[in-house]
Amino acid sequence: VKPEPLKIMISGAPASGKGTQCELIKEKYGLVHISAGDLLRAEVASGTENGKRAKENMEKGMLVPDEIVVMMVKERLLQPDAQESGWLLDGYPRSLSQAKALEDLHIRPDLFILLDVSEDALIERVVGRRLDPVTEKIYHLKYSPPENEKIASRLTQRFDDTEEKVKLRLQTHHRNVEAVLSVYKDLIFKVDGNAPKENVFTEIDGALSSVLEQKSGTDSAS
Ligand code: AP5
Repeated sequence: VKPEPLKIMISGAPASGKGTQCELIKEKYGLVHISAGDLLRAEVASGTENGKRAKENMEKGMLVPDEIVVMMVKERLLQPDAQESGWLLDGYPRSLSQAKALEDLHIRPDLFILLDVSEDALIERVVGRRLDPVTEKIYHLKYSPPENEKIASRLTQRFDDTEEKVKLRLQTHHRNVEAVLSVYKDLIFKVDGNAPKENVFTEIDGALSSVLEQKSGTDSAS
């Protein structure tokens, strides 16, 4: 019997490395990466009414209202690819009401990864972050510089990646994080996210392998 696919949540302050770890997890485990921030940026780019409202909140470092974000994530999670291959939910839920909305649907992860990074490092990571619009890969001018000049010349920066805005995003994070953790307290895997990304991934990889082992053990026994 094929074991049930993995269901993983990843959380942490702005620029703690969620997207970076998701790239690595996705590559090894083939999970469907669902990023609330990416879904919202796509909505902003398409210029819809919801996109306009989302952008107003994102520019202030505030959470986008539930009536926009909850449905958006729920619909993506319930798509066949995520149900068949497993999912990796990035930056969601970010408030007690979002967590409760998932609980009501009996959607719970196998593991809740929490990246723990010092505040000084977060600011440096935000200011140096760059994105490749072609491959969608995440770079950092100092820690993950682009491989060549061609890539370097096309890199872009996010509209909310300034020191001033990340401070507002951090405040929002601090206001909500404890309430979300309380919902998943028996599933939390806290990782020191200050280390280089490969080391952070080694820890996460170990935890995901044991969850998979446990799941296949339980399935074959039943
Ligand atoms: P979102 O896009 O989710 O942003 P965020 O939580 O602020 O997180 P980031 O994407 O900035 O960072 P990350 O943790 O993915 O770090 P990354 O890997 O890129 O949300 C944006 C906005 O959308 C929110 O402010 C809110 O308005 C709205 N929103 C989103 N979700 C919502 C929700 N659920 N409800 C309501 N509103 C919502 O890494 C950062 C940099 O550091 C990169 O340059 C990277 O190369 C570098 N780096 C990564 N790891 C390391 C390492 N180990 N060592 C050195 N450098 C590293």
